[in-house]
Amino acid sequence: MRQSSQCAGDLIRYLVLSSVLSLALANPFTPRSDSPVRLNEVQFMGTHNSYHKEVNIIGRPFFELLMPSPQDYFYSHASFPNQLDYQSVRSLEIDLYADYDEPGQFADPLIRRLGQYQPPTKEWSAQMKERSAKVFHIPDADVESVCPTFKICLTHLRDWSKSNPGHLPILVDLEFKTVDERIIVLGGPRGESWNSTNLDYVDEEIRSILTDSRLITPDDVRLAAQEHAKKQLTLEQAVLQYGWPSLDESRGKFLFYMDNDPDGSPNLRDPYRGKSHKNLEGRVIFTNSVPGEPDAAFIKMNDPSGDKLEQIQELVRKGYLVRTRADEPIRSVLLPIERSRQRLERALESGAQIVSTDWPAMGMASRYGTDYVAELPGRRLARCNPVLKPEGCTDSDLLEKAEIESSKVASRMLMQH
Ligand SMILES: *[C@@H]1O[C@H](CO)[C@@H](O)[C@H](O)[C@H]1NC(C)=O
Repeated sequence: MRQSSQCAGDLIRYLVLSSVLSLALANPFTPRSDSPVRLNEVQFMGTHNSYHKEVNIIGRPFFELLMPSPQDYFYSHASFPNQLDYQSVRSLEIDLYADYDEPGQFADPLIRRLGQYQPPTKEWSAQMKERSAKVFHIPDADVESVCPTFKICLTHLRDWSKSNPGHLPILVDLEFKTVDERIIVLGGPRGESWNSTNLDYVDEEIRSILTDSRLITPDDVRLAAQEHAKKQLTLEQAVLQYGWPSLDESRGKFLFYMDNDPDGSPNLRDPYRGKSHKNLEGRVIFTNSVPGEPDAAFIKMNDPSGDKLEQIQELVRKGYLVRTRADEPIRSVLLPIERSRQRLERALESGAQIVSTDWPAMGMASRYGTDYVAELPGRRLARCNPVLKPEGCTDSDLLEKAEIESSKVASRMLMQH
């Protein structure tokens, strides 16, 4: 009895929800030939929404009714270790929902109740009740993820890092999300808004899994510059006047940056910078900032079209770290392939150090009738930055051990023939 009335309630909620949702300076580095290649002097590919898996096939009919343009979410990524091993990406993106005060708010998503199918693993429900931020796209509807909690995602990264000593730095984009008011009104999970308290928890979660020796923090960058300068510097001055750490110092490490817009609503940069963190003192994450402000080291410019191309190049020349996007799921791959490649080429040409894609490997877009793929030339993990053209940088400086070993194997095989 209770069962069927709950089902009826779910069904009504789902019908209403579906109708509601469907509204729905010149380079400050004096080039020195003896100077090592710096972290910002290279370019990496990354994945967008790297945790995302498309809806379970049984849930798909409900998903198509719930989501305004369901096909936009029909893309899936491999596990983090597999992306890092097989897809030549060195940047990942993670969406976070706060779930600290009453953990478990997202443990019983509507779409699974409607489709009456099991969670992806036996452990899933228990994991979703753990006190950790949760990682998925949209509550109740687009909920499948390669790692359901932030701690699990971080553990996957740490374990991969341990088995790949000397790997190129991994740049991790964190997008702080909150539940859409319309979902809450309909009885969905309320979630928790982000504020200075739970942003602290995110730093703590990262530090509980990745020790200092595996992190590149704003303090690492600023304090090293201050030591050279022998004076106080803002984070921005440190980066623009003294530069980022060398690539070799950055190996084996992770750098986290914030996706949320600097003046977005809600504004999360302000609570994160707080009163005593103007230069992100003591913080883990680089904010997405605005040139001229003390915390400006990383800038997000997702769109490389039109005159934004030159704007990105200018930011890169000044010394900022920039992220742009090569494409969008799935719109970009529905265009003729020449047009999707045009945006990719512009993104690469922008010199943005991080170029994100949803199609990092050949074949991922084939279901949409295209062999579009976003890779660096030669399917490299990194290349010398095309805008900065650092003196003395050759792409072969930027290899990882596994690549060097596989090229040795290849040359041995060639010699035997
Ligand atoms: C932040 O949000 C949490 C959860 O909603 C709440 O418990 C906490 O008091 C808030 N902290 C501040 C400083 O507003």
